[in-house]
Amino acid sequence: CKIALLAGGKSGEREISLASGMGAKTALEEAGFPVKVIDPAKKEDLKKLIDGDFDVAFICLHGKYGEDGTMQGLLEIIDLPYIGSNVWSSALAMDKTKAKVFYEHSGIRTPRSITLRKADERNIEEIVKTVGVRCVVKPATEGSALGVFIVEGVPDIEEAIGKAFEIDSEVLVETYVSGDEFTVAVIGNENPEALPVIQIVPSNEFYDFESKYAPGGSQHLCPAPLSVAETDEVQRMAVEAHKVLGCRGVSRSDFIKDGNGVFWILETNTIPGMTGTSLLPDAGRAAGMEFSELCTKLVELALR
Ligand code: DAL
Ligand code: MG
Repeated sequence: CKIALLAGGKSGEREISLASGMGAKTALEEAGFPVKVIDPAKKEDLKKLIDGDFDVAFICLHGKYGEDGTMQGLLEIIDLPYIGSNVWSSALAMDKTKAKVFYEHSGIRTPRSITLRKADERNIEEIVKTVGVRCVVKPATEGSALGVFIVEGVPDIEEAIGKAFEIDSEVLVETYVSGDEFTVAVIGNENPEALPVIQIVPSNEFYDFESKYAPGGSQHLCPAPLSVAETDEVQRMAVEAHKVLGCRGVSRSDFIKDGNGVFWILETNTIPGMTGTSLLPDAGRAAGMEFSELCTKLVELALR
């Protein structure tokens, strides 16, 4: 089974994608697969992808033009099976504002929010009335917490919105939920199952870009120190999110547990990070699966 490993790409998460690609390449080679790395930001690499005799594409692209359905569309057209979710589901999960509509529809608790478009008139007082004075401002379709600001008070909210609009044409302003951060990976197609829950203890104020990727930037507690009932609840929410967004293969949903012990879903990643400091490989190991076994499983799921 010859693998085209897609890493790099054109999004703000390019560097992370290259690191994920390295992580997955090592794991796939350990598992015995021949692997060729392809960077879709390079035209000649794209030609190799189209003309090559690959059996499966292992996508390690995060963010735009990779995790958002666009690359999945190209792979559909050239008839090459790929890891993870299809075009529609990838696009849906990438767009935090639209994913929230689906979470709400299926009763998965997600913080209250308002979506802003660049051309819209903005009334910050009205926004504050809806989401509260302490809120999170984020571009609708970025990853790795790029352009995410936790802010309080009208001037800061206004400034953060301006900065987020430099990254995206749609911005989400969401109620800030204070609490501990958790993440749950889910594996599978028709009958997806949750991996052990991870609690993330960031060294910065929240799990921002630096805490995600600097060695020692955060601590992963896995399995998370939760009661059996809490573990069941957050795993159930992650599986439900995977299903309602129509995910395949793998997803990883992020949560906050508030002071009352209530879990809130923030987002679902359809191509979770696979770098040395990433969460998915840790969750797999906690379930007794080396990363090479987990990658093999993802290849099998792609071909099913
Ligand atoms: N978007 C990053 C890569 C993650 O979710 O792990
Ligand atoms: Mg993300």
